[in-house]
Amino acid sequence: MVVTYKVRVATGNYLCGGTMDSISITLVGSQGESGKFPLDKCGRDFSPGEVDDYKVESQQDVGPILLIRLHKERYGAFPQTSWNCSFVEVLAPEGQKYHFPCYQWIVGYQTLELREGAARTIGMDAGNPSLLQHRQKELEAKREAYRYKEYQPGWPMCLDADTVDHLHLNDRYSRIKENVFQVQMVTAEVELKMKGLLDCKNSWRKLDDIRMAFWFYRSPVTEYVIRHWQEDAFFGYQYLNGVNPIIIRKCVEIPAKFPVTQEMVAASLGKHTTLDKELKKGTIFLIDCWILEGVPATKLNGSLQCISAPLCLLHFTPLGEMIPIAIQLTQQSGPESPIFLPTDSEWDWALAKFWVRNSTFYIHEILVHLLSTHLVVEVFILATLRNLPMCHPIYKLLIPHFRYTLHINVLGRVNLFSLGGLIEQATGTGFHGVSHLLAKGLSTVTYTSLCLPDDLRERGVESLPNYYYRDDALKLWEAIESFVSAIVALYYKSDSSVKEDSEVQAWVAEILEKCFFGQESSGFPSHLETISELTKYLTMVIFTSSVRHASVNNGQFDFGAWMPNYPSSMRKPPPKSKGSVTFGDILDTLPDVSTTCSTLLILWLLSREPGDRRPLGCYPDEHFTEERAKEAIGAFQRRLVQISEEIKERNKGLPLPYHYLCPKEIENSTSI
Ligand code: FE2
Repeated sequence: MVVTYKVRVATGNYLCGGTMDSISITLVGSQGESGKFPLDKCGRDFSPGEVDDYKVESQQDVGPILLIRLHKERYGAFPQTSWNCSFVEVLAPEGQKYHFPCYQWIVGYQTLELREGAARTIGMDAGNPSLLQHRQKELEAKREAYRYKEYQPGWPMCLDADTVDHLHLNDRYSRIKENVFQVQMVTAEVELKMKGLLDCKNSWRKLDDIRMAFWFYRSPVTEYVIRHWQEDAFFGYQYLNGVNPIIIRKCVEIPAKFPVTQEMVAASLGKHTTLDKELKKGTIFLIDCWILEGVPATKLNGSLQCISAPLCLLHFTPLGEMIPIAIQLTQQSGPESPIFLPTDSEWDWALAKFWVRNSTFYIHEILVHLLSTHLVVEVFILATLRNLPMCHPIYKLLIPHFRYTLHINVLGRVNLFSLGGLIEQATGTGFHGVSHLLAKGLSTVTYTSLCLPDDLRERGVESLPNYYYRDDALKLWEAIESFVSAIVALYYKSDSSVKEDSEVQAWVAEILEKCFFGQESSGFPSHLETISELTKYLTMVIFTSSVRHASVNNGQFDFGAWMPNYPSSMRKPPPKSKGSVTFGDILDTLPDVSTTCSTLLILWLLSREPGDRRPLGCYPDEHFTEERAKEAIGAFQRRLVQISEEIKERNKGLPLPYHYLCPKEIENSTSI
């Protein structure tokens, strides 16, 4: 008896996403398999963005359909073309509809097996040896395709791919995104070259000349920075709501290595209080750049740069401003490392602040941005691909948050932070300094530091007013947590179902091993015992890939374009005494013209999202097919709209709106 199934196939709306190859399908059910049936109708099949309908005949009723096979084979004399398949739907004669999410490129001639869309943990497949075997086979192939390598000693492991050409199409930027990225890079470089700036190795003659370097792009924020960068209040503001809002911490006791006294800060604190009182009140904060001690500097344009490890004490005033009140430029106090104060000469104090800005530039870019988002997320991705099959609910939950990360990271390893890469023309650390600092900094990346509520508590900043980053990030953490919790509840009915999910346990263990070399001191778990532990872990993964990255990435050009606000290198060592610094010394210490322009170029590129964006909570690829999962997505999206409105409303009253965590501006993934 011939049984007819209706089959619908959707092709992804990507440039060159269609195929001329021959596509056939096999339906695999619990009672048997159909034959291999060609999907061929009148007219063109499988064009980008199109949906094609077919009738597929089988010699038997295959029963409930468990999976399908898509066979991609040569068609006549046509050359092979890759195919981006979105999904396949099968309608059985009795009316039962089956959905097979794909959302991937099928490259070359091959057969791809797709599981029916309902998400299933390994425990849910326990009674079906063929489905268990299917999971196993898929993971074996993925482990072969996604191998780890060591890029630099002490760095988290990364994908074994030397260029983006080695990436599978699934992991590459779309052609549109790649083209926009290239055009942006060339345009910015040409503009700087035209002015002869990239080749100029001199000091800036006056600060105002720096405006010439970024005439091609301005924003309300860059304009604001130019007007306010010298103000102490704006210096402090940036450690709450700038591009590096997670380095500041409450200071409850003045460290012995930074012997600030009451007399030193009396003028800053005012008559009615003392340093002791303010410490007790919890209004004193510290930025400690200890991790930069011993980091080797590089030569830029032939001259060896200087790196220091300053400390900066700040006071949160009754007016709600975060004001720097003392700066020491090294970790060793003493006569040769004076404590600089706002009451010192204008240029002494300005230079001390430049040192702090420069040091926190390195910590921000290398540890907070590159390491704690890009590289950590890369391990999350590889562990997911290697341990969770596509039908796993956690794979379906996380995969949209990993879009394009492998591409940008490989690109970074090739062009940016490599030996001879752009970073060697732009920052005082060069490649060797980055390599050293990143390996040293891995010990500072802890589970606590990546779990926002724990991090805020640990840094003592839970109730600090005017901390918009914290307010927005916390709302987003809670929104993600609530979404994750709803998804987890659909597939895990008890703590033991988490404990017994061997795929999830292997996934978590691999992240600890490949990212943190198994170090328990990282606080990263080696296994998950409960539903709430799983929920927190998944929230951390999504938050890090999306919100955390947006908060430290998207404002890079805004806050860095005006170089004096965020110098990427220092050409002279820190002063050992007070009273001798001139304006000329400052210009000779700050980056020269070409270094400034190289940095601008990088910040410009990394702050511009080159098209093809998917904002937080936007899931056009429907990996989840169950209604209840879709309802959870809908609730998440509605909450994000509310958060957007709340941020917009709050920003109306601010001289400098904080918009980096507006959900529409957050990418689902670390993609740039
Ligand atoms: Fe980034």
